Amino acid sequence: MSKPRILVARGVFPQVLQRLEQHFQVQANPRDEVWTPQQLAAQLADKDGALTTGSERIDRSLPAACPRLRIVANMAVGYNNFDVDAMTAAGVQCTNTPDVLTETTADFGFALLMATARRVTESEHFLRAGRWKQWSYDMFAGAEVHGTRLGIIGMGRIGQGIARRGAHGFGMEVVYHNRSRLDPALESECKARYVAKEELLRTADHVVLVLPYNATSHHTIAATELALMKPTATLVNIARGGIVDDAALAQALRERRIAAAGLDVFEGEPQVHPGLLDVPNVVLTPHIASATVGTRLAMANLAADNLIAFFDGRGPLTPVNTPAVRTIAPSI
Ligand code: GLV
Repeated sequence: MSKPRILVARGVFPQVLQRLEQHFQVQANPRDEVWTPQQLAAQLADKDGALTTGSERIDRSLPAACPRLRIVANMAVGYNNFDVDAMTAAGVQCTNTPDVLTETTADFGFALLMATARRVTESEHFLRAGRWKQWSYDMFAGAEVHGTRLGIIGMGRIGQGIARRGAHGFGMEVVYHNRSRLDPALESECKARYVAKEELLRTADHVVLVLPYNATSHHTIAATELALMKPTATLVNIARGGIVDDAALAQALRERRIAAAGLDVFEGEPQVHPGLLDVPNVVLTPHIASATVGTRLAMANLAADNLIAFFDGRGPLTPVNTPAVRTIAPSI
């Protein structure tokens, strides 16, 4: 029996590609080109499975255009790039990469919070520009982190990791808002107290967003919510672009209605709202929260493991949906 055909839609670690090649006929993307949706659909037309990143959209029309496709393994924990309902209806399995990135991403959330509150990149730009002439008492005086109130919106695994860091490492009072409350044991382990979103926004010194993106979470933070925040507060988004209204945030930062923001994700990324590029009180990073070599390798291996287990008939390791079995079109 011939091996299933797999598309690896973006560049990936050579050792992961080699593993996949032991199991599949692999079409890779060695130059790591970013394909248009049409190019992606054309590449997938004769494939049984795919390894994607969060940048490839699997939209409503794609499953019908790719009759052999049975699984798409996303190398990301988020999967808002998938139309999961359409994939489930068409019998296409979706998988993601939870757990392996939790602590690394929580580390980065904290790094971005620290850099934002303590004005790390703003002061570095000042130094590199040769503008540092003398020490002065209020030069780049930022916001306190230890002992302040940390508000976390989205209390999944990564949110909990940030809560632990804040509570146990920095003596912060942690409040959170989530679709559902954590069970009391987990709340007490994270030293986190559930509050309404409005109370969180009004009272937190630092607000960190770690919720999944979907129609309900679109613009969770827009002008109204920014207006509730303290003028001294910082806002950190390591979740997804679209959770924050970037235009409203750029205006709030320009008018100093909040003190600062740290953003790893953007609406329409890799484009960044020009208003955010113009203001000094924002730390901007290019969607790198899970980017350590070890974690990215673990994510790529988990995506590969999902493909291997699925085609071995063992079932995916980290499924997102439970589609009915797709009838496989005859070999072409
Ligand atoms: C990264 O954004 C991920 O969802 O893994």
